Formats: sequence, structure tokens, C-alpha cells
Amino acid sequence: MSVRERKTENAEMAEKKEKFYITTPIYYTNGLPHIGHTYTTIVADVLRRYKRMRGYDAVMTTGTDEHGVNVERAAQKAGIPESEFVARMADAWRALWDELGLTADEFVRTTDLSHVRTVQWLFRLCKENGYVYKGHYTGLYCVYDNAYVSEPLPGNLCPDCDRPLETVTEENYFFKLSAFQKPLLDFYRKFPNFIQPDTRRNEIISFVEGGLKDLSITRTTVRWGIPVPGEEPHVFYVWFDALSAYMSAVGGPEYERRGMWPADVHLVGKDIIRFHTVYWPAFLMAAMLPLPKQVWAHGWFLMDAAKMSKSKGNVVLPRPIVNMLGMDALRYFLLRDVVFGQDGNFSYDALATRYNSDLANGLGNLASRTAAMLEKDFGGKLPKPADRLPQDEALAKESQSAIGEVLERFDKFEFSRALETIWSVIAAADKYLTEEKPWALGNSPEEESRKGTILWTAAELLRVVSALAHPVLPDSTAKIWKLLGQPGSLDALELDGLRWGQLAPGTALGKFQALFPRVEKTEAVERIEAMANEEQNPTEPAAPKPTASASATGTGAAPAPAAGTNEKIGIEDFAKVEMRVGQVKTAERIVGADKLLKLTVDIGSEVRQICAGIAQYYEPESLIGRKVVVVVNLAPRKLRGVESNGMIVAASVGPDGRPVLAGFHEEVEVGARLK
Ligand code: MSP
Repeated sequence: MSVRERKTENAEMAEKKEKFYITTPIYYTNGLPHIGHTYTTIVADVLRRYKRMRGYDAVMTTGTDEHGVNVERAAQKAGIPESEFVARMADAWRALWDELGLTADEFVRTTDLSHVRTVQWLFRLCKENGYVYKGHYTGLYCVYDNAYVSEPLPGNLCPDCDRPLETVTEENYFFKLSAFQKPLLDFYRKFPNFIQPDTRRNEIISFVEGGLKDLSITRTTVRWGIPVPGEEPHVFYVWFDALSAYMSAVGGPEYERRGMWPADVHLVGKDIIRFHTVYWPAFLMAAMLPLPKQVWAHGWFLMDAAKMSKSKGNVVLPRPIVNMLGMDALRYFLLRDVVFGQDGNFSYDALATRYNSDLANGLGNLASRTAAMLEKDFGGKLPKPADRLPQDEALAKESQSAIGEVLERFDKFEFSRALETIWSVIAAADKYLTEEKPWALGNSPEEESRKGTILWTAAELLRVVSALAHPVLPDSTAKIWKLLGQPGSLDALELDGLRWGQLAPGTALGKFQALFPRVEKTEAVERIEAMANEEQNPTEPAAPKPTASASATGTGAAPAPAAGTNEKIGIEDFAKVEMRVGQVKTAERIVGADKLLKLTVDIGSEVRQICAGIAQYYEPESLIGRKVVVVVNLAPRKLRGVESNGMIVAASVGPDGRPVLAGFHEEVEVGARLK
């Protein structure tokens, strides 16, 4: 290698960032994500954002665990081949993560060819090194958890999911797990941070000290799995298959080229810690591959003290919450309300309460009142701070020391405490503004200057807080960043360079965008629940793609026949639809439903509440007093959780299906029937 080449390589090395590889579990495809799964994935995303802001090349992977008896059964029930079933489910998982802004850098499907190669390679290494042998196994097996159970509940029920176990005997390949008792215990001692939190480490140590039995890692009773090369009908045990996904995500057999392995942290729920801290490191030791650096087990979100599960019908879905309150609110609540590592109860009530207190009244209100005063008193330009009084200094000091504290807490995965620190700074700022009363100061040069100092201080605090909270609240903090006229993207800000006092006077403020509109708690909870109900029990077919035909707005009516269809209906069919002239009395937007307007419409005999999907085309005020055509004999239903009793008729125009309300050119009486 020439000196020049070496120099270039050294420069590249110097520039090369340290890697940080984060994984979520790969999720089963027999259901769709609920809050529990969303929680793990949000934490992974928060960590990725945080590590990137600390200068790391941070990568996050997720995926779907697609093999096993459960999938065979679910596909059979759906009447489609397994491959089609898992492809649909994987698409649905991926789509939801994208919708929630939680797109991983790699998404592994265990049916991917590259993953199949990785599993077979890992098996070969374990076998070549003498840790795999053939034998017979009989045991009680839980097909739902894909695990043999050694201590069943009375009545041969699974201790994890309470479901009946099955007795299974089969010829298997066994993995010599027993050979790894000592190496594992030595490893836990040498790397005490490998298992987190500490309570989990102690549990695992005593489990391993109790002795390890060899583990069967292939199945002949299952068809839908990765084949053991040359040993058909053996397929791999789902956990041998699934755990290998962490390596296939970053190159599999060619992992060295990608440079991401070993994982820096596997994020898992407490129910799957044994697989990750006993089996997985043992497989890797047997294959003589590098071991992950850490496994962090979080607790469960419980509903009425029970773990959420589809079979119990007590799942909380992320989408309705996000539609109502926004993704940042969900991220904030999940990380703030429960100490990472512990179980927590999920409640919509607590969610809405925190939303109003911490986000709407806390961060949102601080940003909007500061922006409004800066706009009014300083023409939207950041003033120059003048002489500082002790109270200004105190706030500066508190914010500066929060920076170090928050970083330390994020480093220790103490997310709720990190947020607590950030919100105590926000509370201090609120108190400061209330006491300093910049709005009460006059226009004398001294008072102007004092006002400038106070508002600069509040703005600087907002800047610091936005940077610190960005990993958890990426959207709203980015809006505050723009509001403060800060250049570039907040994602790229280096937290290590963050200091109090960097906000430049004279900077022009950006446009204020609403952050967290206050919600009425009971109504918000009702609407989230109604949306969840709609999602879990869909009653109507999906809305058809718009065509240039007459349509009714907003109530998801059954697809109308396309214009020009030859299908005819009799007059008696038409007579079933009762349409009347209505007059709009009130119109307002609906928080969390950007396409819908909530209208009250006088139809002669009564005033009805009707939701219409026209918010993107009609300003609410422009509709008041307008005469419209209303279908009045439709069964009422809820849209985005808001009751809608009737339907407004509109033409659907152009490729976007722009709604144009049907109306009249002559005076018509309210309540008149259309025939
Ligand atoms: N497919 C396996 C993981 C294989 S990883 C190599 C699996 N999948 S899962 O879909 O059932 O669960 C994935 C994760 O979701 C687990 O970490 C589990 O703890 C987590 N959660 C499922 N329900 C949960 C709650 N109610 N609360 C918090 N997390 C929980 O296991």
C-alpha cells in the first residue's frame, strides 16, 4: 500500500463514525402490531435517533418471524398458501411502521433467501464445531409460543399463555446447550452489563446455574420452516431460525464486510429474554462468532393487569391514538409514563391527561406564547439579551446542567427520567415567564431591553429543550427548531456540542405551526376507542377509488357503480333513498382527522350532526348558511370516532376526487324532499 493510499485510508478511518447496531425482536405474523410491539420499536427508533445525534453510525433493524405451526394454521384458515399469507402480513407490518415513521434500516423476513442462507450457515458452523447431534425428543409443546414446556400448569396448560400443550415425539438435531453452562456464567460475570436490567440478569444467572439441558433445534413435525440442508423433512426450530435474523440483517455469512455485527443492543420484552441471553449467545459461542454486547429487556404494557394479546381481545392499537393525538404524543407517553424495564398499565385516560398537561400546556404552550410575544414585540426577530439578572442566570444554569443529565439518562436507557429532567426545565421556564411578566413591560428603552432578555432566555431554553427531546418527539421539536429560525435539520445536530447561549440574536423566526392542540379528555378517549373499534371490527368496505361520478362525502358509502355502467335499478330502489334540502348551521374541523368537517345541518324536521370528507377543499366558515343535499335515512355511524347522522351529497371531480357540493340555483325550502 502506498503512503498516499495509507494516508487516505487513515483519513477515512478518522472520519468513520463508530457504529451502533440496535435490533427489535422480529415479530410474529399471526397478528398486527399493538402498543406492546410499537413500544419496542419506538424505543429502538428513539435510541437510533439519540445515538446518531451523539455522532454514531446507528442502525436499527426489525422484521417478521414467519415460520412455524401457527402460520401453517393461520394460512390454512385463510385458505391461502403460507407464502402468500406471510407476504401479506409482512407488508402490513412494514406499512404500519412506515405510517408511524418507524422505518427500520433493514427489515428481515425469515422467508428471505439471504436469511435462509444465514440460518443454514450458522447450523453448519455449530455442527462442524461438534455442538450438534441427532436424537429423539418427547415433550409437551406449546405451538403458540413455539417452545417445549418443562413445567406445565395443572391440566397441561402453557405457563406463559394458559393454552393447552401438545405431547410431541420426534427425531431432532440437538444443540449441546449443556456444554455452555460454564462459558455462559463466565461471560455474564465478565460482562455484567450484558443483561439489563439487573433484576433480569440475576434471574438468568440462577436459571443457568440450575443446569442447562440440550436443546432440540430441528423439527420433523413442522412443514413450514427453513429446511436443514440434506436432512429433509427436518426444518429448523423457529427460535434457531428467528434469532439468526439479527445477523442476516447485517450481512449474514458476510457480516464482516458490513461491519455492524455484533449488535450493540438487542431490545426485547421480558418474556423472550431467555432465548436472547442463553440460547443465542450459546449458538454464537458454538459457531465461534462474536457475541452481542447487550440485551435489554423491557416490561409489558398491561391492560387491566393482564398482558395484551389478540387471543384475550385486550389489545390497544397505535393508529387510533396517533390519528387523534399524533405520533409524538404516543412516543412521549410510552416513554414517560413507565420506567423502562418495568411493567406498566396502559390507560387512555392517563394518555389524554399527560397529553394535555405535558404537551399541550407544557411544551406546546411555552412555544406558542414565546413565539407570539416575539412576533408582537420584536417583529419576529430574536432580541439581544442585555444584562442578566440572577433569575436569568439561574434558568441558564438549570438548562445547562440538564444537558449533561439528560444525556447521562439516555445513555442508561432511563428514558422516563430523561424526559422528567427536560420537563422540569420547561416547568421552570413557565414559572420564570409568569414571574417576569414580559407582557406587562412597557416601551421605555430599559423595559424593552428587559423584555428582550426575558424572551431571548425563553427562546434559548426552547432551543435546548427541543434538541434534547428530539429523539423522543422528532416532529414537534423539528417544528420548534424551524420556528426559532435554526438552520439545518435537528436530526443532524450533534448533542455533544449543545451549550446554553448559542442562540444568535437577530435570527428571523420561522412560521409558527400548532404543536399540540388541547383536547377535551372524555371526548378524546371516546373517539380513540371508537376508532379502535372501527379498526378491529370494520363494518363497511373500503372506499372505492374516486371516479367522476356523483358521490356522498364522508360516510364511506358502499361503492357506487362506475359512471356509464349498464346496471339499472328500479324506481322503488331509488325511492328508498331519502334526500332532503339541508342548511348548514355550524361547521368545524376535527382534531386528528384532517379530511373531515363536523357540520350541524338543519333538515327541516331536526338539526343533524353530519361529518363530511371535504375539509381539504372547503373552509368551515364558507359553509355556514349554505343549502346542501342530505341523504337523511342512512343509519348513523362514527367516523374517526365522531357520530355522523346522514350524508352530504357532492360530485367527485378529477383524478383526486375533489368534492363539489351539490346545490341549487333557485330558492328552496329547507327540508324539501328531492325526487
Ligand atoms: N417472534 C418472537 C421474537 C423473535 S426475536 C428473534 C416474538 N414475537 S412477538 O411478536 O410475540 O413479540 C415481540 C415483542 O413484543 C416481544 O419482545 C414482546 O415482549 C413484545 N410485546 C408483546 N406484547 C407486549 C406488551 N403487552 N407490552 C410490551 N411488549 C410486549 O416473541
